[in-house]
Amino acid sequence: MKNPLNRREFIRQGALAGLGAATAGLTFSGGCRWLPAKERLMMGVAPTGREAVRVGFVGIGNMGSAHVKNLLQIPNCQITAVCDIREERTAWAKNEITTAGFSEPAIYGRDDWDYKRMCDREDLDLVYNAAPWRWHAPISLAAMECGKHAASEVNLALTIDDCWKLVETSERTRRHCAMMENCCYDRTEMIVLNMIRQGVFGEILHGECGYLHDLRAHNLSPTGYQGMWRIKQMERLNGNTYPTHGIGPMAWCMDIHRGDAFDYLVSMNTPSTGINELANRLADEADDRQTREHYASWAKKQYAKGDVNITLIKTKLGKTIICKHDTSLPRPYSRDFLVQGSKGLLRKYPSEKVHIEGLTKNHEWEDMTSYNEKYLHPVWQNLEKQTAGMELAGHGGMDYIEDYRLIQALRSGLVPDIDVYDSVAWSAIIPMSNDSSNRGSKQVKFPDFTRGQWKVKRPLQVDLVKVI
Ligand SMILES: NC(=O)c1ccc[n+]([C@@H]2O[C@H](COP(=O)([O-])OP(=O)(O)OC[C@H]3O[C@@H](n4cnc5c(N)ncnc54)[C@H](O)[C@@H]3O)[C@@H](O)[C@H]2O)c1
Repeated sequence: MKNPLNRREFIRQGALAGLGAATAGLTFSGGCRWLPAKERLMMGVAPTGREAVRVGFVGIGNMGSAHVKNLLQIPNCQITAVCDIREERTAWAKNEITTAGFSEPAIYGRDDWDYKRMCDREDLDLVYNAAPWRWHAPISLAAMECGKHAASEVNLALTIDDCWKLVETSERTRRHCAMMENCCYDRTEMIVLNMIRQGVFGEILHGECGYLHDLRAHNLSPTGYQGMWRIKQMERLNGNTYPTHGIGPMAWCMDIHRGDAFDYLVSMNTPSTGINELANRLADEADDRQTREHYASWAKKQYAKGDVNITLIKTKLGKTIICKHDTSLPRPYSRDFLVQGSKGLLRKYPSEKVHIEGLTKNHEWEDMTSYNEKYLHPVWQNLEKQTAGMELAGHGGMDYIEDYRLIQALRSGLVPDIDVYDSVAWSAIIPMSNDSSNRGSKQVKFPDFTRGQWKVKRPLQVDLVKVI
């Protein structure tokens, strides 16, 4: 992939110069950056509240099914349309929706682009997608162009061009575009956020995070992901292709876009061996010809994606983050979550430990259990009360919280927790780490999607509105 930043910068500046900045409502600031008028930013913008939020859902596979189940349990939410190119998935969703007592949803999915017809419907407020990665930006753009808010599973975008398009479209249409990063709401990450806010770790200086999950078997299975879309990405894309489970919660802990911002990254990869080795072994062990041929064909391929990627990020205020991606080698699950400040540190994996100066014995770790109850985030306290006895779909409750908070924000006219600027800055690590690692770990600067507004200190929405 060529350096996408320069091309985008070139196009933006050329186009804007041609249009005339003043008439386009833009102002020019030093450092050769064109800025939109402040009031055009979608930061802290409250949507118009409504009685109920009507959702059109696209992509009802592994993750989409969990969201559909959760949305059906959220008060003042209705799924009015569903879209999937696999008929059995829309049939499943229709059955879930009607069994839950709602009217039959409109069904879409006659081809890959049928989501556009769905976005055009009048009876939708939000288009939410859990489709494969390449569709996230196109679906979100179509939703906003049709006047709907957009929510997308991770990652929101795969290119810097798409990141800018999403920002510009959200600003022009005045519609929110939120990437749904469930790990921001995980119980431990929210306890840590609460501890940080209460000054337990002092000034936060360093973080470590990532996505470390042995996905080889799922990636190689013909039924793991529809059309095996995930392994196909590995044939062409290197770098950290899935940064947001780690970087999302870390950005919250480090006040990114709320007084600090990512400045630049450097990235490097190991060679790629894990997928080929397992595919070879599965081909050898196969009992029938069809299975043997399936695995043998994937064993022969070359993967651009190195097995382990390490990306180092420096923030504008000089803080450091290590973000890892490791999904093609045998290993236990981890997100390597570690936050370090001037008064101590915490690590989540392989077990939750803290070291707090003055409280923990010098040079030792201490179990985090004794802090959990004291610092349980109000968002979780509320959820546990509210959902007692309910069957929540997906990842121990965090998926329900992310869905619940987005729906209630749109319903009550509150600013969503994650805005378009957060979503694209976290996603931009994908093309940037690909670019850096393909060019000898060259330093790559983050585009400033906020056009300087990251400097403004403002609270995170989960700190401001803890209970909805
Ligand atoms: N946040 C999490 O913890 C988490 C967990 C799993 C997956 N995910 C994310 O969810 C997304 C989906 O992953 P998955 O595992 O559910 O994949 P999947 O293959 O099981 O589901 C994708 C679904 O999208 C449908 N689809 C594909 N192209 C489409 C199109 N053009 N229009 C309409 N439908 C289309 C497929 O038929 C399929 O049902 C990915 O972004 C993935 O990274 C997130």
